[in-house]
Amino acid sequence: MASLTSSTRTLLLVLCSLLALVLPSAAEKKLETNSLNACQANSGFTASLFNLRYTPSKNSIDVNISAVSTIEARVEFDVTISAYGYQFYSLVIDPCKFDLAGFCPMVSGNLDDPFSLNVDPSTASLVPGIAYTFPDIDAKVKIYINATSGAMAGQSVACLEANVSNGQTVDLIGVKWASAIVAGLALVSSALLSGLGHSNAASHVAATALALTGYFQSQAMVGLVGIPLPPVVQSWTQDFQWSLGIVNVGFLQNIFTWYQRSTGGTAARIIDTLGSVSVEVQKRSEPLLAPSLSLFKRAEAIMPRSLTQHASSLMKRGNIKTDYGSYIVYGIQRVAFRADIETTNLFVTSIVSFYVVMAFTAIIIGLFKGACELAAKARWIKGDTFLDFRNGWITILKGILFRITLIGYAPVTILSLWEFTQRDSAAEVLLAVFFLLYVNIGLFWASYKLIRIAHRSVVLHRNPAYILFSDPQTLNKWGFLYIQFRASAYYFIVPVLGYTVLKSFFIAFAQNAGTVQAIALLLIEAGALITASVLRPWMDKKINSFNIAICAVNFINAIFLLIFTKVFDQPDIVTGVVGVVLWVLNAATTLILLLLIIISTAIVFFTDNPDGRYKFMADDRTSFMKSQSQLATTGELDALAMTARGEKAGYGTTITPTVHK
Ligand SMILES: *[C@@H]1O[C@H](CO)[C@@H](O)[C@H](O)[C@H]1NC(C)=O
Ligand SMILES: *[C@@H]1O[C@H](CO)[C@@H](O)[C@H](O)[C@H]1NC(C)=O
Ligand SMILES: *[C@@H]1O[C@H](CO)[C@@H](O)[C@H](O)[C@H]1NC(C)=O
Repeated sequence: MASLTSSTRTLLLVLCSLLALVLPSAAEKKLETNSLNACQANSGFTASLFNLRYTPSKNSIDVNISAVSTIEARVEFDVTISAYGYQFYSLVIDPCKFDLAGFCPMVSGNLDDPFSLNVDPSTASLVPGIAYTFPDIDAKVKIYINATSGAMAGQSVACLEANVSNGQTVDLIGVKWASAIVAGLALVSSALLSGLGHSNAASHVAATALALTGYFQSQAMVGLVGIPLPPVVQSWTQDFQWSLGIVNVGFLQNIFTWYQRSTGGTAARIIDTLGSVSVEVQKRSEPLLAPSLSLFKRAEAIMPRSLTQHASSLMKRGNIKTDYGSYIVYGIQRVAFRADIETTNLFVTSIVSFYVVMAFTAIIIGLFKGACELAAKARWIKGDTFLDFRNGWITILKGILFRITLIGYAPVTILSLWEFTQRDSAAEVLLAVFFLLYVNIGLFWASYKLIRIAHRSVVLHRNPAYILFSDPQTLNKWGFLYIQFRASAYYFIVPVLGYTVLKSFFIAFAQNAGTVQAIALLLIEAGALITASVLRPWMDKKINSFNIAICAVNFINAIFLLIFTKVFDQPDIVTGVVGVVLWVLNAATTLILLLLIIISTAIVFFTDNPDGRYKFMADDRTSFMKSQSQLATTGELDALAMTARGEKAGYGTTITPTVHK
């Protein structure tokens, strides 16, 4: 079989990509922090830019800073270091003992010049080795500057907080590629199998591939919530943002920025100005933001009307700044920031990704059709190879484009709804309206069509499966809506679409209300898990277990999100540990699902009779579906179809067709 060598090669490629995940990177040891956040109102020392890097091999600390100090007093620094919410180190530094210029006593002024400090080589041994290698370490340094003289003596005049990172992360290019390649290959394999006439195997592979892609998307959606997430969760969910179309391609970003500007929008410049302004990655309603928000309100009261409008539109558009000048991102903007995409380009990025995929697919299918015709004319392939495809390729193309629309349904809905809160530019809001209507009307209309066809089939043949699975036109065009389900649950696409819309609403519109979001997601996922386990609507036992397992993990993720909102008032260490548990759980689930799908798809390609590998469905579908393993016995097929139509047995009776090996 020609596909043998190619599938071996693909398998190798995938395994190599998976290996890339586990191999450690040989980066230089370092500890760094990229923003200094105020952690008390009226902090006397604030920094709009703060980049600090400690490199043990060079025994140096490099600092880029832009800070303002209003403190004029003798001070002491009360420093605490914690990891995963557990405080393990604290010390009080008296700057007068260290001869730090400008700190003994502290003087007010601006601090703008980058500087370097040489540190004692023995310092390196104070930091345990694991601090440099543990990915997405959740470590924090908190410094109180307490006055020891003057009017404020004994009180803290400033509080500063910095998250420490070591540059190691689970946000890995290898994970992105491996997951994308496996999901993509599985979808392509199912298309190929179906083209070769193995429709039973094709629908199994497609059903698993769709479930897997759905799981990737729901992990990505965990990253979109406006809830403060531990670093490892932010990084891990970032690995799956490609499944929402959030892919950073440099020249496209330039086009998007140009498009937004030329349609009257103002582009965000968070990524642009990273060298001069720090970005705080966190939730909006943390205490330090409160003063800046009230400042805005106060400012509004005294500003002329037009300015007030401008200020409030700035507020709505996100890109929130603290009153000391650094940016704050959370939720969907945080994902954009971490993907190096300006927040104002995120919506267009996702939409365009999906339509680029669609355009490429259409072109490839067109070329393939041309190649098939040429090859058939030149007699390189047998006249009947891909015959179904060559005859009905337009319908098949429509079906595939519909399927991509279905895969893009969640991201397009979320980001279009979110665009209404961002209003990047008039043209982009119009685009959002258009795409929102397009995907929703398109898919709900298709579902309506499907239900009509099924009803007609019930009326004519007392069985919904008859027309749905026997008419190749229907199967190729609308099959994406129902082949993953058992025939009697053909309608299940409607609850799936409803679930997606509901989830999208809460993710897009409750960005500022993390708790609301978490509770809503918890209820939605609980509903999905219960429905899936009770109805078990998918085509067979394996795919039902596959999907129910995914629903269960989604539900657990929703519980974890609720924990991250701190509604339980748990100690920080619990939050830190839950973050790591979320990562381990999802990484393990992802790995298992990836291996399952790789192995089962590879086996399908290695067997001579792919369709025979799967138990034929107990729902009569195979008796109506044209499948090569069965075509040999047309007489038997007719008899089966007749039985299934209810000539003898009623609808729902189990029929087990003979499998010919
Ligand atoms: C400080 O800024 C310079 C120039 O932009 C850059 O090369 C350097 O890496 C920065 N240092 C830190 C600690 O980020
Ligand atoms: C500095 O002030 C903070 C906040 O008021 C307080 O918790 C801390 O104990 C003080 N540190 C010292 C060394 O006094
Ligand atoms: C620091 O990490 C904590 C979680 O450990 C997060 O809630 C907070 O938003 C982070 N702050 C910044 C500035 O990244």
